[in-house]
Amino acid sequence: MTTTKLETTERGADDMDRRLRVVVLHGPNLNMLGQREPGIYGSETLDQINQRITALGKSLQPPVTVHTFQSNHEGEIVDAIQQFGQASDGIIINPGALTHYSIAVRDALAAVGRPTIEVHLSNVHARESFRHVSVTAPVVTGQVVGLGSVGYELALRFLAGHLAAEPE
Ligand code: DQA
Repeated sequence: MTTTKLETTERGADDMDRRLRVVVLHGPNLNMLGQREPGIYGSETLDQINQRITALGKSLQPPVTVHTFQSNHEGEIVDAIQQFGQASDGIIINPGALTHYSIAVRDALAAVGRPTIEVHLSNVHARESFRHVSVTAPVVTGQVVGLGSVGYELALRFLAGHLAAEPE
């Protein structure tokens, strides 16, 4: 499991730190990337993906502090959305299979209300019909689907621009 600690302080009105914070949440089985069905999900490991997007965040202007978290457990993903999501300016989430049925994950994203991008490595619409449904899609800002791990980079670039343009 890839876990990180996040500062839980909210951005205060007098917060002079312009650094943006984005949390990247990975759901069930994504810890097995690299060995899990590589024909569908690619050969990169989750650590490699996390390292790339963390480095990308540092290189952006303004820089984005990226925190990553993975869990195989629905409740831990809900906890992470509440705790880490609230401490962040934006969320990137690949809920894995939870995408297709977890009302709890959807409700947590709606409750926290941060700009959120849903990412899927594979083109879920070209796969089994049960993957065509996303219960989280209606409460996120947008989705990146089927572009492999590049989807996380595109999501981060979008969020960085979107958040930097938001009034403080
Ligand atoms: C996935 C697609 C889901 O259907 C699947 O359950 C996953 C990964 C993707 O990234 O393509 O675990 O979210």
